[in-house]
Amino acid sequence: MSQQLRARRSNLAVPGSSPKMLDKARGLAADQVFMDIEDAVAPLAKPEARKNIVAALNEGGYEGKTRTVRVNDWTTQWTYADVIEVVEGAGPNLDCIMLPKVQTADQIIALDLLLTQIEKSNGFEVGRIGIEAQIENAKGLINIDAIAQASPRVETLIFGPADFMASINMKSLVVGEQPPGYDVGDAYHYILMRILMAARAYDKQAIDGPYLAIKDLEGYRRVAGRSAALGFDGKWVLHPDQVAAANEVFSPRQDDYDHSEMILDAYDYFTSAAGGAKGAVMLGDEMIDEASRKMALVVSAKGRAAGMTRTTTFTAPEA
Ligand code: GLV
Ligand code: MG
Repeated sequence: MSQQLRARRSNLAVPGSSPKMLDKARGLAADQVFMDIEDAVAPLAKPEARKNIVAALNEGGYEGKTRTVRVNDWTTQWTYADVIEVVEGAGPNLDCIMLPKVQTADQIIALDLLLTQIEKSNGFEVGRIGIEAQIENAKGLINIDAIAQASPRVETLIFGPADFMASINMKSLVVGEQPPGYDVGDAYHYILMRILMAARAYDKQAIDGPYLAIKDLEGYRRVAGRSAALGFDGKWVLHPDQVAAANEVFSPRQDDYDHSEMILDAYDYFTSAAGGAKGAVMLGDEMIDEASRKMALVVSAKGRAAGMTRTTTFTAPEA
């Protein structure tokens, strides 16, 4: 079964109705490309979008990127046909299905069962295709723990701010900004933290959704910086200009990455017999112990997933 922790600092949204944009995505440095059949595609264009996506996936050129398709949600008439057409048509060239507006665990189970049948009947590896669950309304958020645990295919829990704001009657002019009269952070803090807690409790990735003011890169950095500081793993990008910002904001800084690798090496050494089997030791001016190792593991995992290389090495002190 899937459950992979892939690099997903930048999650590029590409409307399936645009062969041009599907093609352009091949050359962008996004960790993940998600090809949309949902809200970025008009109802009349959905059948064509399915075909464009199957063709693009089978043609390839997305090497090194996670390839995801966002289908329509289960309350529409489109979901089953989206899944069947895309997975039968391009299953081996597809990594995940993103399910929007997830409200209950049953909706994940339904998708899991459908995927399993398609995989079996087409001779594809069963369970390889993951599920990305978008949390976009109050019901989804209060059921998030069950949603996270509904299938081992679930890899991410994603905040969908636009739909979420609409569903809870939150006033706002630009997604990513605060409703008038609030401080940035206040409005989304509870939702972001709730998603993050479920993601950490069940080993999923926490992904922040879109920032719609695509010309405002500074705003993007600020909002991405907020979710990165909380511990989120990545954010959507709607425009090529946002890709580099997301990759940077969700990667550790080089010196933090180097430092975390040093802590891991030093702690390994000092807890070993050769290092004196100590539990708390000094690394330079810093006291490190088992909790330091846990914090270092988080940073080093993010750095390694981002393909960073360390620039320092640990040398054991002379006996
Ligand atoms: C994304 O799907 C959103 O609703 O913000
Ligand atoms: Mg949405």
